[in-house]
Amino acid sequence: MKQPFYIKNILFRLEPEKAHHLVLSKLEFLKNISAISRIFKKKYFYTSPALRSKIGGLDFINPVGLASGFDKNGIVDHFFEALGFGFYELGTVTLNPQQGHSGKRIWRFPDQLALVNRMGFPNDGVDALKLRIESKSKHVIRGISIGKNRTTSLEEASSEYARLISKVFSCSDYFSVNISSPNTENLAELGHLKYFKKFLDDIDQANAIEAKKYQVLPKPIFIKVSPDTDDKTLFEMMGQILERKNFGVIATNTTTNRNLFSAQMPEEGGLSGKPLADLSTKMISKIYKLTQGKIPIIGCGGIFSVADALEKIKAGASLLQIYTGFVYSGPKLIREINRGIDEEVSRLGLNHYTDLIGQSRVTGAH
Ligand SMILES: Cc1cc2nc3c(=O)[nH]c(=O)nc-3n(C[C@H](O)[C@H](O)[C@H](O)COP(=O)(O)O)c2cc1C
Repeated sequence: MKQPFYIKNILFRLEPEKAHHLVLSKLEFLKNISAISRIFKKKYFYTSPALRSKIGGLDFINPVGLASGFDKNGIVDHFFEALGFGFYELGTVTLNPQQGHSGKRIWRFPDQLALVNRMGFPNDGVDALKLRIESKSKHVIRGISIGKNRTTSLEEASSEYARLISKVFSCSDYFSVNISSPNTENLAELGHLKYFKKFLDDIDQANAIEAKKYQVLPKPIFIKVSPDTDDKTLFEMMGQILERKNFGVIATNTTTNRNLFSAQMPEEGGLSGKPLADLSTKMISKIYKLTQGKIPIIGCGGIFSVADALEKIKAGASLLQIYTGFVYSGPKLIREINRGIDEEVSRLGLNHYTDLIGQSRVTGAH
């Protein structure tokens, strides 16, 4: 399947954020033409019995998802299925609309397959998102990523996240809790024990209250962690998570580590893409080990190939997410990765991709 290089060439001549908005508006237009959805799905979507899984009580049709931040306002929504994804995350959305940082906010580094962003959660707010996506999609699994408004203090943050959970409960299959963006000051401190215990209690309680109201089970809550989390904090976070039901982890968000990167980098912002790959895989291994494989981990960071995807699964990821790889390689990458995982499962004589989860621990690769 040929990559439409001319589209990428045109887009990569534009300023990154302008290109992004152009892509979103084109996809929004295409999603309303059902013949287009069918054609794209035929071209990009791949599944097989070996790729289906039940994780956190949810049925995933393939393990490759879209990471949050790409469609912050739910404009493209279920059309991500036609682009090959087995699940997708909207947001990060905040309680009140906010503009994010001013000035340039995304930088491309094509020779390093990397991006740097300092967006700061620009979004239309949770109510606008809900209005856009309210009718429950019958498509692949949809997660919603939630974050605090910039002006909300760390002390008030847990009740704000709890309100967000109540608001999006009816329109998301799982929640992705963003306490790891480097672009909201001190956000990652919510992972420190001083805040984290109460934080988990508050969001857990909101989940339970809504579940009771709708007479359904509580939904999975995935805590998204930073690759820059120190070992002590990670140990304490995982200890708290293990004490509760319904929790999983997304590893990882972007990094502020400037040593992974040889090009001149903007001073502020989080690095994603290829230079992040090893750091995020190491985090997955650590989390898998700390939690003894007892909680689902969504592996994210620098996936550009089947080999990258398999490495994350073997390190302990039950599911995967991609952002930067999708920007550079488009939907053909999503199909390629799903097909490649399927082929690897057959090649090894296994029944299912989940048989590979955490295998590098057995072989000692990480
Ligand atoms: C431009 C941009 C915006 C992002 N916005 C968000 C966001 O709003 N919420 C979030 O949790 N992660 C956000 N991320 C992080 C990605 O979801 C992902 O965790 C990270 O980029 C690593 O994956 P990748 O190397 O495949 O891009 C963003 C990343 C980029 C590049």
